[in-house]
Amino acid sequence: MTDPVINLSEGAQQRETAAAVPAWRQRWRRVRGPAIFAASALLVIWGGLPWLPAAWGVRFGAPYLTFFSLAAVGAAGFFMLLNWGPVRQPRSALATFASILLVYVATVGGMVAFGTWYYPQFETPRVAAPEPGGESAVEKRGKEVFLSPQFGCFACHTIEALGIRGGQRGPDLSVAGKEAEVRKPGVSSEDYLRESIVDPWACFTPLPASGLIECQAAVDPAKTYPQLMPPVKDRMTKEQLDDLIVFMKSLRGAGERNGKRS
Ligand code: HEC
Repeated sequence: MTDPVINLSEGAQQRETAAAVPAWRQRWRRVRGPAIFAASALLVIWGGLPWLPAAWGVRFGAPYLTFFSLAAVGAAGFFMLLNWGPVRQPRSALATFASILLVYVATVGGMVAFGTWYYPQFETPRVAAPEPGGESAVEKRGKEVFLSPQFGCFACHTIEALGIRGGQRGPDLSVAGKEAEVRKPGVSSEDYLRESIVDPWACFTPLPASGLIECQAAVDPAKTYPQLMPPVKDRMTKEQLDDLIVFMKSLRGAGERNGKRS
């Protein structure tokens, strides 16, 4: 029955050491877990994710990295607050109710505000107003096919020149119409575009950094985009495909339409 004695003296010892440690160090001890977590998460997010091999087919743009960072820092901040120190407890029923309401409004309100600000980046991209000089009715229908969630082209493709911010897994199609003329020697831009949509694995688009212009017969992680694009077989009507190709052909970079500078 010596245990209680030992415990007592241990407790006294702990109190003593606790008193010897400066207050800021005690605080730091309580929050260092979440702080180290946040620091390592940020290191992985900004130091690791952007360097994933292109062949894996996952590339995270700044919006995703920011989102991951906010989630990690937010979680760490939450646990830091929990550990920070004793919170004064409300003294009356009304104060209890008010504090619950405050926490609720702060959490849900914060999430709603953040979502409202953030969500558009994952949504069907909003398209910038058409330039003067305008697009033809066929191009417009083609653009609608491109933007339709049924085909999900924008999940992988951005058209920066039109302000369509989609995914980054496939090439930016800003100048697809111009590039289609030189991707496959002896093949018209229209036929190349048709092939890249219906049978995308027939020839792979070179990565911008590769310096290549022509499409490549085989995937090469160092030179081409990965084999990711789903072939459009019977999912699209002939009219939809034709409109889409007209739209793709019209993509010639900002300020230029169908070969004419505007
Ligand atoms: C899952 C991601 C993904 C989806 C969805 C997707 N693509 Fe692609 N796309 C790619 C990748 C990756 C490449 C490059 C590799 C290749 O040629 O297959 C590519 C290549 C292309 C090219 C060739 C570009 C060039 O310069 O050679 C065109 C055109 C194209 N896609 C149009 C479309 C259209 C139109 C749709 C919608 C019907 C679509 N893509 C849907 C990933 C995707």
